[in-house]
Amino acid sequence: MDRIRIRGGNRLSGEIPISGAKNAALPLMAACLLTDEKLVLMNAPWLADVGFMGELLRSFGAETSYVRGPSFGEGGQWELTAKEIRSTTADYDLVRKMRASFLVLGPLVARFRQAKVSMPGGCAIGARPVDLHLKALETLGAEILLEEGYVIARAPRGLKGARIEFPFVSVGATENTLMAAALAQGETEILNAAREPEIVDLGLCLIAMGATISGLGTSRIVVEGTDTLHGARHAVLPDRIETGTYAIAAAICGGDIELTGTSADLIGALIPPLEKAGTMVVTTNLGVSVRRNGSRSSASDVSTEPYPGFPTDLQAQFMALAATAEGTSRIRETIFENRFMHVPELLRMGADIQVQGDTALVHGVERLRGAPVMATDLRASVSLVLAGLAAEGDTVINRVYHLDRGFERLEEKLSAVGAEIERLKE
Ligand code: EPZ
Repeated sequence: MDRIRIRGGNRLSGEIPISGAKNAALPLMAACLLTDEKLVLMNAPWLADVGFMGELLRSFGAETSYVRGPSFGEGGQWELTAKEIRSTTADYDLVRKMRASFLVLGPLVARFRQAKVSMPGGCAIGARPVDLHLKALETLGAEILLEEGYVIARAPRGLKGARIEFPFVSVGATENTLMAAALAQGETEILNAAREPEIVDLGLCLIAMGATISGLGTSRIVVEGTDTLHGARHAVLPDRIETGTYAIAAAICGGDIELTGTSADLIGALIPPLEKAGTMVVTTNLGVSVRRNGSRSSASDVSTEPYPGFPTDLQAQFMALAATAEGTSRIRETIFENRFMHVPELLRMGADIQVQGDTALVHGVERLRGAPVMATDLRASVSLVLAGLAAEGDTVINRVYHLDRGFERLEEKLSAVGAEIERLKE
């Protein structure tokens, strides 16, 4: 398995192009199942998870082709056509590789009136049930059975619009419901809907495919179902988690980097704690500049919340910054029940962190020390990269396949702004 070695201590300066958002590309790819015409997705990142979704779509009989971006900063392009669909079964051995595969359930039931999709199972950060997805589809008229680890959904007379109120915000459940409602008969009202930019991006693509949707980005979305949807061309929005990750890299290392092809409003909730920590975030005409030239960062408290709150997908990265800041930061994780697995690895690097339930008390230290560490999940892995960039000496990160799931060309992007980072091919 590949490993990544980092020699810490360099300040960063230069430009990093931001890729298209993984968490938008995945539901957007699933949306191709809603039509028999071609869906073209531009600015699509080349990531392991995106590759898995392509493999899953082909297993149904969809035609897919992906052309990588011609250069460093250019996104790739998917062409997806779900015309000759031979199967509506998403096998366990594909779904277990990537839980976002579950996003094919809504589109399959809506268009083909049946689907058999493996339950995704839990993952490192939590049980991550799908009860909200299933309840919403039942409310839209699907019969749901659970058999041998599979969800079997049937809607012989098609789905019917309904009023769906989620007890709490779920990104995936909102996405499955939005796609299913687009082909349901009549109007669907989704209350307590997720407001993430990726939801808006999916909704805008569905509108380009002929759907009638209002309220995107608010907690009340209304969908007027239609009989068929047509093909479209849609550019994937920039990845706000990648944007935030590299903004934190500038904060933890010091220096001045410009993140291009993105915007400050995608990381709105990160800016106040970054500025409190002593980092400046400035909008430029290419994107956003992040600079910290002064003294050591100072501590700042954060609590993860659904959008527009502080993103849970940036919690681990922010903790790496807090581990080197002056003072004590309280970091609370309210979305997932087990998302502090980066803590033991940061402790190996000399961090001083106590976890009490859903809160981590991070007492900043002057310098972390490089060490061999283990990646456990996607965002925890990149937190270790950030810690390694600031640490004294070498850090070697094992199991970097986690990183490849969500960060395109990570070593290239960081090397381009002065980090000493290389991949050790095993
Ligand atoms: C999406 O996961 C993202 N993944 C996650 O990013 C992100 O952390 C999460 O949203 C929260 O923002 C993709 O978009 C592919 P949820 P999702 O449904 O949709 C519970 C990454 O690193 N829940 O909003 O699975 C759930 O267990 C990944 O890119 C239920 O109980 O998240 C969690 O505690 C990690 N029942 C909370 O709700 C359900 O039916 C929020 O989950 C659904 C969710």
